[in-house]
Amino acid sequence: MKKIYIVFGIAVFVLAFSMCHKAADFPDSGYDERMSGGEATVLDESSKAFTIAINGLSARDARVHDIGDQTFDQAFVAPPSPIFTGLGPVYNNISCVNCHRNDGEGIPTAGFSNSGLLFRISQPGTDAHGGPLAVPEYGGQIQDQAVLGAKPEANINIAYTDMPVTYPDGTVVTLRKPNYTLQNMYLPITGSYMLSPRLAPPMVGLGLLENVPEQTILSFVDAGDTNGDGITGKANYVYDVYTKKQEIGKFGLKANTPTLLTQIATAYQQDMGVTSYVQPVESAYGQQQMHGVAGDAHPELADSLLNYVLYYVKTLAVPARRDVTDADVKTGQLIFNQINCSGCHRPTMRTGVDVTMPEISNQRIQPFTDLLLHDMGEGLADNRPDFLATGTEWRTQPLWGIGLLQKTTGTAYYLHDGRARTLEEAILWHDGEAKKSKQQFLQLSSGERAKLLKFLGSL
Ligand code: HEC
Ligand code: HEC
Repeated sequence: MKKIYIVFGIAVFVLAFSMCHKAADFPDSGYDERMSGGEATVLDESSKAFTIAINGLSARDARVHDIGDQTFDQAFVAPPSPIFTGLGPVYNNISCVNCHRNDGEGIPTAGFSNSGLLFRISQPGTDAHGGPLAVPEYGGQIQDQAVLGAKPEANINIAYTDMPVTYPDGTVVTLRKPNYTLQNMYLPITGSYMLSPRLAPPMVGLGLLENVPEQTILSFVDAGDTNGDGITGKANYVYDVYTKKQEIGKFGLKANTPTLLTQIATAYQQDMGVTSYVQPVESAYGQQQMHGVAGDAHPELADSLLNYVLYYVKTLAVPARRDVTDADVKTGQLIFNQINCSGCHRPTMRTGVDVTMPEISNQRIQPFTDLLLHDMGEGLADNRPDFLATGTEWRTQPLWGIGLLQKTTGTAYYLHDGRARTLEEAILWHDGEAKKSKQQFLQLSSGERAKLLKFLGSL
């Protein structure tokens, strides 16, 4: 039996190796700085750059990817419609793509068909698995839409106030500080509650990130801050509803979800009200609005479709970097490392070995994240813990593809709730463990700042 595995292993290795040569676009694959996703990189800088399948999929796999793609774009409807049914009774949006525009990020509005901002809600305390404590009649997320016969749980009012920041050189940048309030609640909430705003992030390189070994992520932790750079970092450990185990969290803006399967099934369940074999119970189960609908009725989404969407997300390519030989971009990269942005936005790492998916296996990638949680200060705090993540902690947002966000999504918004309208605003919000970095950024000349931003634009 072992021999078969070895032979199979060698075959996969040879296959993977031969595919290196297929990617002839890259003269020195492995160390070509453009190849942010290793072999899973695509040379495309169009508005569709986030939506392209990785190279080398077999005809059958490419077909599965395509069905997953169509399902990702598919608008769901309320029962009793026979196909793509099961929307609601309460939900946030009717398709994945409505929030993750062009596989990119969402728009920070609430209540419109293209809104990609949603709000988690919980009470003080934790549930049986150490996760956020659900609010009776609301659950863990505000669903601001409902099918006929049900009521949206609440609406969100979003108000911004100007917050000017002045550089030592006199330049002023005005940040907008959001204030979120619940209104039109369908039932009163007794006691206090905590809200966490979350904007749909881009779908870049998620299969690769899932493949980064736990040990690699843990090697980035510097719990006692032994090197004195002010950065510690912490892994989140979260309960997986599917495996029923505590696992390291990689996905979600607080690393609050362990796997893509659970992330996607929970999106169907929470964001769209569509149940599946992984999340078989409606988000509204137990609420007065369920009108006696059983919680364990057979899943609304076919098992195969959930698996196809998972495969689609896993096999989306990472867009290649641009302008890597540009002198300003290179200087910007040096500054990025000098002022220790790289202390959290880790430039390179290697994915683990996965013989079932050689395309994303053992790749040298440049995601510019450590997948760890960091205290980002009071200004960015949602003050709502999520498993081990405190109210000030967020997962380092990967920066690959960020230079194409404007093009792929029309208007780019940054940070967990889209409050930042430019990369510069996003940096100026950094605080907490990133305080030293931010202060050094403020001290840069306007020319140096421009080069750093140009470097980010090349990612
Ligand atoms: C209402 C808007 C909305 C809809 C609809 C939606 N998402 Fe998301 N998505 C989000 C938000 C917000 C997050 C961040 C969640 C968090 O922090 O827990 C997210 C996170 C993700 C992630 C993890 C990304 C990362 O970087 O960690 C994946 C994968 C994902 N969504 C896939 C999907 C799929 C597939 C669908 C359709 C079934 C979908 N989403 C539907 C808003 C949405
Ligand atoms: C202590 C860790 C840490 C350091 C140091 C750090 N960042 Fe971040 N960065 C984060 C985290 C965490 C987020 C997500 C914060 C949020 O969404 O509220 C983030 C978000 C960003 C974003 C927005 C990404 C997006 O898609 O919305 C940009 C741009 C960024 N960082 C650039 C930088 C630059 C440039 C530096 C150096 C001046 C830097 N960061 C230093 C942790 C860090």
